[in-house]
Amino acid sequence: MRKRVALPLLFSVLVGASFLAERFSREKPLPEDQAIAEIVARARALLTATYPGSAREPALRGAHAKASGCVKAVFTVDSDLSDALRVGSFGHPGERYKAWIRFSNSAFTPGPDKNPNGRGMALKLIDADPDHAVDARTNPPHDLLFINFPAYFLADANDFLAFVRAGGLQGDQQHALRYFFPGYNPFAWRLREAAIVYRNATREIASPLRTDYWSMTPYKFGPDHAIKYAARPCIASTGPAPAKDEPDYLRDALKGELNKAPGCMELFAQMRVGDMPLDDASLEWSQELSPLRRLGRIDMPLQDIAAEGRDEACENLSFNPDNAPALLAPLGGVNRVRIRLYQASAAYRLGHNGAIATDPEKAWDHF
Ligand code: HEM
Repeated sequence: MRKRVALPLLFSVLVGASFLAERFSREKPLPEDQAIAEIVARARALLTATYPGSAREPALRGAHAKASGCVKAVFTVDSDLSDALRVGSFGHPGERYKAWIRFSNSAFTPGPDKNPNGRGMALKLIDADPDHAVDARTNPPHDLLFINFPAYFLADANDFLAFVRAGGLQGDQQHALRYFFPGYNPFAWRLREAAIVYRNATREIASPLRTDYWSMTPYKFGPDHAIKYAARPCIASTGPAPAKDEPDYLRDALKGELNKAPGCMELFAQMRVGDMPLDDASLEWSQELSPLRRLGRIDMPLQDIAAEGRDEACENLSFNPDNAPALLAPLGGVNRVRIRLYQASAAYRLGHNGAIATDPEKAWDHF
């Protein structure tokens, strides 16, 4: 009898103690701007250490360092777009944009495509009609960034700071595990976040053109609404499983496909409904509550992504979620981190490489 009481009692005391220990040992969140300042300083220090001024090899992006390629495209706003969706870059049904897409692996350092990875798609809409040499449209380019999973593994700036302090920017498993499992106390384990990374990184794709993508983070949609973006292939394809032996099999697939036939993606908006979170990028918005609504189509003509000079032009292109019209501006803590960090990463890269930023429209007209 005594043992039957003592053991569960001991267990519940242990559980209670661990729970409280975790609560009281958790770091107090910093004000967001302080967290972002520390993140940027640490990221800059890492870039400088990885690509010191004296180093001859080129500096790469602080994340999504390896590109599968840059694809020339045309984005067309749906001609039957409903009034509710006619906002900003999508304000004129039937309007067409010159566009570039950079497909990438999300890892901080380049490696074989078979390595577990999220897959990135960075779309840049250039405010110019592909058919008219001279065009009166003058808006700056609008960047839309995606990864092939509906949720990000970090909720906000303080989460990202904790990830950076754990050494997460090093990009190796050991440091990432230190973030997800910071100690022996199971209450401190970040199991849900670890599951997001695992599920994203183990999604196998045959080609960058044959997977779905999500913006993960929210954006303004006019004065009163917010959305998340999504993109997916126009035709769900059932091609053969990828031959993963080749280190760059995704680039090979992209090159091979666009040499043979045009590519196509659809762009969607998911409207925020009710109190869907704006400040927790790790929480997916239910498509049952808010189905995807099509905004337009991304057409990729027949092309040679390995044409001379294309990779260099691609490397010197830079994207930032902040490159958006005011009515479609980025929202949420994760986006506020990204705005600063992408600026710092791109500036370091171009500066270290003595490179001139690619003019997206000139490059579009050239290639
Ligand atoms: C706090 C969270 C994040 C941080 C710190 C971060 C950091 C970075 C950095 C430093 C770059 C390289 C930028 C450059 O050098 O030009 C980058 C690129 C990229 N990120 Fe993020 N990122 C975050 C979240 C996300 C999210 C939520 C998405 C999802 C859509 C995303 C998608 C991308 C893509 C597609 C690129 C490649 C852009 C290109 O091709 O130039 N990132 N990220």
